[in-house]
Order: sequence, then C-alpha cells, then structure tokens
Amino acid sequence: MTCYLNGEFLPLEDAKIPVLDRGFLFGDGVYEVIPVYDREPLRLEGHWARLARSLGELRIDNPHTDAEWTALFRELVARQSFGDQSVYLQVTRGVAKRDHAFPKDVRPTVFMMSNPLSTPTATQVEQGVSAVTATDNRWYRCDVKSTALLANVLLRQIAVDHGAAETVLLRNGFLTEGSASNVFAVKDGTILTPAKSHLLLPGVTSDLIVDLAAGAHLPLQFCDVPETLLRSADELWLTSASREVLAITTLDGRPVGNGVPGPIFRRMHGLFQAAKRRPLNAAAA
Ligand code: PDD
Repeated sequence: MTCYLNGEFLPLEDAKIPVLDRGFLFGDGVYEVIPVYDREPLRLEGHWARLARSLGELRIDNPHTDAEWTALFRELVARQSFGDQSVYLQVTRGVAKRDHAFPKDVRPTVFMMSNPLSTPTATQVEQGVSAVTATDNRWYRCDVKSTALLANVLLRQIAVDHGAAETVLLRNGFLTEGSASNVFAVKDGTILTPAKSHLLLPGVTSDLIVDLAAGAHLPLQFCDVPETLLRSADELWLTSASREVLAITTLDGRPVGNGVPGPIFRRMHGLFQAAKRRPLNAAAA
C-alpha cells in the first residue's frame, strides 16, 4: 500500500518518522479522515477548510495550499488498487528536541495513507446499532481535530466493552457528540443537533446531513439536547466519514423510539446514498 510522507510516495512499511516527532511525543498535530467513493472524495473542500482551521488554532503553518493538498490527495488515491477509500492525513508540528514550548524553525511532518473504505453493513443500516452514554471528560477544544485522542480512545472503549458501536457523550447533562461521530436526535418530526462550539468537532458528514435536510425540507434545529430529550427521542443517528449516517436503535440497553431505524432516518439515509455517488452535487448542495 502506497502512502505519502514529507514529499515522497512510498510503501507504508517503509514510512518512518523520527522518535522526536512532536506527534509521537505530545500528540501535537491534527488529522483528517476523507471518504472516497469510486476515487471521488466527498466534500473535499470541507476537509481542507477544517484542516486549515485546526492548524491555525494550533499555530502550525499550513504546509500546503488547498490546490497542493488536492494534487497530493489525488495522486495518493490514484496509486491505490481499490476505488472506495478512507484517506487518513496527519500534520504534526514537526521534529525537535523535547520541550513543551513550540520549537523555532521546525518543518511540519505531513503523512497520508489510504485504506479501503469500510462502510456500515446492510444489517447495521436495517437494524441500527447500539450505543452507550458516558460523561464527556475531554478538553475544551474538541472543535480542533487533534491527534491527541486519548480521551476519545478511552470513551470509545466503553462502547466496545459493552458490545456497542459508539459512546454518546454528555457534558453537564447535555449531548455533545459521539467518541468519533456527531449525533442527531429526532423529536416530533424535527431533527435536532447541538450547535457548533468548542465542545464538539464540526463534522464534514454532519454538514452534508444538514444541507440534505434543508434540500428535502426536513425541519432541523440547532439546539441544546438535554439528557432527558436524548433518552426520549423518537430517533437517534450518528454520522461520520466512515459510518455515513447510522441509526442508534438502543441506548444504554433501552430501545430508542420503536427500537428500529425511524422513517426520517430512512429518508436521510437514502438522500445520503444518492449524494455520496455524485460528490460534485453534494459539494454544491
Ligand atoms: N472521526 N466527532 C468526532 C469526535 C470525530 O472523531 C469525528 C470523525 C466526527 C465526525 O466528523 P466527520 O463527519 O468529518 O468524519 C465527529 C473520524 C472519522 C476518525 O477519527 O476516524
């Protein structure tokens, strides 16, 4: 499998970084996961915009323009033997003697790899998945897509330990997001999701969901979702680059709504499936 590291395309097993890379020592870097369907990315511009924002928030110089990123990305995608891909991209502050303070004159490390995109199974789509809740104990900059993911890793493992697909996070009694996904609720026909803030990652997939809802005239509101509303929702969904949009049908062992994917989910899932195979239209939506 061919990957990209600091200006070079090379086999993944030959890609090496120095142990003094600040990504290794401090988790001092950012990343993106970009879904690719039949070699066409979904909402690439949204990923470049979020990458630029994450880098800016960490005061790491963006090593490339969007056009340069796109060229590298397209080359990586072209070099794979499979069409549906999940491209992982990481930029760290670079390699320097260990010191918490920013090093001077350091060049960011740039790494990209591609794996086959594994989307939800037909059973997951038809039956939904289970989730558990946990207290959101992450830092206050969850809007930055940082590689420092220890809290997310521990939170996701709670789901795995319960045989569930995702951990839904509550901070001070309000929904934030999932350990690696955004979360939507449906109540009395209206789609509800928390507004963007420092407490959650602005998902590229969730932006698409919001646009698809607007295009289909499905009522959607950005609002606080208290725990009581989360637990009495008619439908719950999670969204991410790899999970697309999936219904959560069991929360903490109790059925969500009727315990099966609801009608608004089925509508949205159909809209998403149509959009993902025509990414140019999806980008313009
Ligand atoms: N995670 N919130 C968190 C905490 C995430 O980690 C992710 C995605 C999302 C959804 O963002 P998007 O729709 O742009 O994928 C929300 C990726 C897939 C990951 O860490 O692998």
